[in-house]
Amino acid sequence: MSTVALSGIAKSYANFVALNGVDLTVPEGEFLTLLGASGSGKTTLLNVVAGMISPDRGIVSIGGRDVTHVPPRQRGLGMVFQSYALVPHMSVFDNIAFPLRIRRMASAEVKSRVEKILDIVQLGHIAHRKPRELSGGQQQRVAIARCLVYQPPVILMDEPLGALDKKLREQLQQEIRRIHKEMGITILYVTHDQEEALYLSDRICLMNAGEIEQLGTPQELYFKPANAFVADFIGESNLLACDIVAPGRVRLDASGQDIRIAQDTSGTANRLMIRPDKIAVLADGESRANEICGQIEEIAFVGETMRLTVRSGSQAFTVKAPTSRSADRKLGSTARIGWEPQDALLLEAKS
Ligand SMILES: Nc1ncnc2c1ncn2[C@@H]1O[C@H](COP(=O)(O)OP(=O)(O)OP(=O)(O)O)[C@@H](O)[C@H]1O
Ligand SMILES: [Mg+2]
Repeated sequence: MSTVALSGIAKSYANFVALNGVDLTVPEGEFLTLLGASGSGKTTLLNVVAGMISPDRGIVSIGGRDVTHVPPRQRGLGMVFQSYALVPHMSVFDNIAFPLRIRRMASAEVKSRVEKILDIVQLGHIAHRKPRELSGGQQQRVAIARCLVYQPPVILMDEPLGALDKKLREQLQQEIRRIHKEMGITILYVTHDQEEALYLSDRICLMNAGEIEQLGTPQELYFKPANAFVADFIGESNLLACDIVAPGRVRLDASGQDIRIAQDTSGTANRLMIRPDKIAVLADGESRANEICGQIEEIAFVGETMRLTVRSGSQAFTVKAPTSRSADRKLGSTARIGWEPQDALLLEAKS
């Protein structure tokens, strides 16, 4: 059993609340990512799981055992951090074998385990090299292999790809995903990169100021954000300040225009979210249930799609439109944009 369960975890530094009562369960075999802006408490929470930080309140259990007061080494966790911390004078093979040798494993078993893991991280051909003879991505793979080799049931990773360039990062993301699937380990991963989180995770825990804003699958966070904070953090969105005026209808604060929505309109929601790719730039004769006329303030060509900023009064809309349909649009010209009621989501913005 390698479920990680956190209950009521709180941690303050002087008057500053770093974690404000976090409840989180990571089931066995899950890839769960802690995502959030800098300072939101991700590393603090990971260190509470690792045992490097003891919480002021709350319980940490791993595999059903309360480990809140158990020292880090006895928690049976593997850890990979942003700095690789490889031993410089040891070869790749010896670096990876190191955790097995300190556990006094027989040398034949060490050899077979290290060779297997070298295969998985695809470093067998350079096992004799020293860390300084490796690229950043290769070094990071050695660090991951060194953690995987003794088969910890739970691995904690804090921004392990943060120091790498984009291409290497994408390559290693693929590898981490493959290794997770192949080995069936539980991974608790930290990143502030939402694309990385969406790509890697079974579930994402979006943190803000020491609390969980939403916990769910990447699809849930993207398509059903719990509030305006989540909508703003995950993907791109237009968030329009509004008030509910009648069932199925809201009024935009900026223009006073009434907008039809498909949602039940009770409650205190005050932001209308529309993803840029749900807004169409309308051709003559085309119509939508909601339409707005504005000036094209910005045009950016991004390949198959174009990103337009269309301004109507004090409200700017970001629109992503297929290039094939919008290539002849001119800066400063007037455009009619529109969307259907079901393409917008009414959310709450916390003050
Ligand atoms: N030892 C400490 N003393 C005082 N404040 C601390 C300490 N450690 C962390 N903090 C504060 O707690 C908050 C959460 O820090 P944490 O390192 O968990 O953030 P993070 O989400 O990992 O951010 P980043 O993405 O920048 O790594 C921050 O505001 C930080 O300044
Ligand atoms: Mg951190």
